[in-house]
Amino acid sequence: MMGEKIKKHMNEQIKYELESFYIYLSMVAYFHLQNLDGMAHWLRCQAHEEMIHAMKFFDHIIDRDATVTLLDVKQLKTTWNNLLEPWQDAYEHEKFITGKINYLTKISREENDYTSEPLLAWFLNEQIEEEKNTGKIARELAMVESSPEGILLLDRELATRLFTAGSPLDPSVYNPAA
Ligand code: FEO
Repeated sequence: MMGEKIKKHMNEQIKYELESFYIYLSMVAYFHLQNLDGMAHWLRCQAHEEMIHAMKFFDHIIDRDATVTLLDVKQLKTTWNNLLEPWQDAYEHEKFITGKINYLTKISREENDYTSEPLLAWFLNEQIEEEKNTGKIARELAMVESSPEGILLLDRELATRLFTAGSPLDPSVYNPAA
């Protein structure tokens, strides 16, 4: 049985993960318009992962026999002033999400909700990766920002990211326990 507070905040986390999906999807559209399809591709993989993140919380709440309540998803931002800005936003956004995961971990401990610990431990590790990746890309782009060749090289590198997370609607792919 889930405590009321952890349930409320996990439902909110579904919304934050879906907002992450939404903002990365906006970035996908933005980078296609800039003819930087590699960056768009990397962010498309990222948007896909965010759907998985939302579904991990969704399934966890259902598996605990609690109620999923889908909240309104906010449109965070749809355009940017330069190529660097979306990557800086991505990095800041991931730091924001890390704060939310930390808070969920704190509440789960307050409510003695040990059953949520494996899921939250997965997310704590995932956030290290999310901050590392977005921060690195932002710093690399800042280094080559005034060089079209450098931007194209980075774009080609980002085009190699693989979709590894499986379908967001098939829990057996991303949650081995399902
Ligand atoms: Fe689901 Fe990028 O945090």
